[in-house]
Amino acid sequence: MRTVEWDYANNRLRLIDQRLLPNEFKNLSYQDYHEVAKAIRDMVVRGAPAIGATAAFGMALAARQSRARDVETLSHDLKNAAEVLKNARPTAVNLSWAVDRMLNVALGHSGSPEIMRDAVLQAAQQLADEDVRINQEMALFGASLIDDGDTVIHHCNTGALATVDWGTALGVIRMAHEQGKRIHVLVDETRPRLQGSRLTAWELEQYGIDYEIITDNAAGYFLRSGQVQKVLFGADRVAANGDVVNKIGTYMLALAAHANKVPVYPVVPLSTIDLATPDGEGIPIEERPPDEVLNLETNGMPVVPAGARARNPAFDITPHHLVTAIVTEVGIIYPPFKRNIRRAVEQVMK
Ligand code: MRU
Repeated sequence: MRTVEWDYANNRLRLIDQRLLPNEFKNLSYQDYHEVAKAIRDMVVRGAPAIGATAAFGMALAARQSRARDVETLSHDLKNAAEVLKNARPTAVNLSWAVDRMLNVALGHSGSPEIMRDAVLQAAQQLADEDVRINQEMALFGASLIDDGDTVIHHCNTGALATVDWGTALGVIRMAHEQGKRIHVLVDETRPRLQGSRLTAWELEQYGIDYEIITDNAAGYFLRSGQVQKVLFGADRVAANGDVVNKIGTYMLALAAHANKVPVYPVVPLSTIDLATPDGEGIPIEERPPDEVLNLETNGMPVVPAGARARNPAFDITPHHLVTAIVTEVGIIYPPFKRNIRRAVEQVMK
């Protein structure tokens, strides 16, 4: 079942409500692109490739919602919708990449509003199907790095739920498991929203892959004591020099892995690489509401004193020198990243 899917019978977008997992599996339907932008902001759907595909279908909804009877008016409405969708979350470049792709398709079909509407939906469907294919291609490359018996640390959720289906870093783990390799996953719980313990653990249960949840701050202990062979995660944006922006905590994890000579592998589709941004410092880091940090309860009681304040950056920057290699759908990219990333992207654009 896909995380993000167009319902052709009812012309609606269907999303799994990830805020409720693992306790409840519920689908939500959308017919209004403003609501789609809100679903991205509120993290009904999350994970860079998943929000890209969601926004692409959001553009298809915007095309249907527009009452425009001529292509000029429809183009204008779609440009407005593109801004609303792109502003939903700032860090994952897949979001603006997907929206711009839909906008370009629309503006290239100037025959009639109906042709334009159909073209955007078709393009969104194509993007979603491509996402699944690309994940499986990355998974095959990535699985070649996994040895039988490996223990890996995985950060955040990068599985089927973070994509249209299959997953990036978790897709690699899933592929290695399907190839018959014994693999044990130490799942970072990933404070504050717990994508690891809520979503990754839920997925690993479905796939029958052996795992244990660890607190984020236990990773250094496991790495230093020689119990981990690889570190895997995804990314929301990779700069031209190979700096990786991913879920908060990735930097500390990569530092600890590097210090203990454990290889660090981000698994990212080319759509997550932003050649226009030279290094990680140029990537906007989303700061989310402090409530996500403060509203933690144990035994039904708050854990922080009334009036406590918090900071909640959702992502951090892992400098490229901490990264061993980047797994993509066109192969595994090794340093020097600046040169080799550009070559990989240009090879696909040819
Ligand atoms: O805030 P989220 O849950 O959207 O953050 C997701 C991540 O950081 C993932 O690691 C990243 O998007 C790569 S997922 C394929």
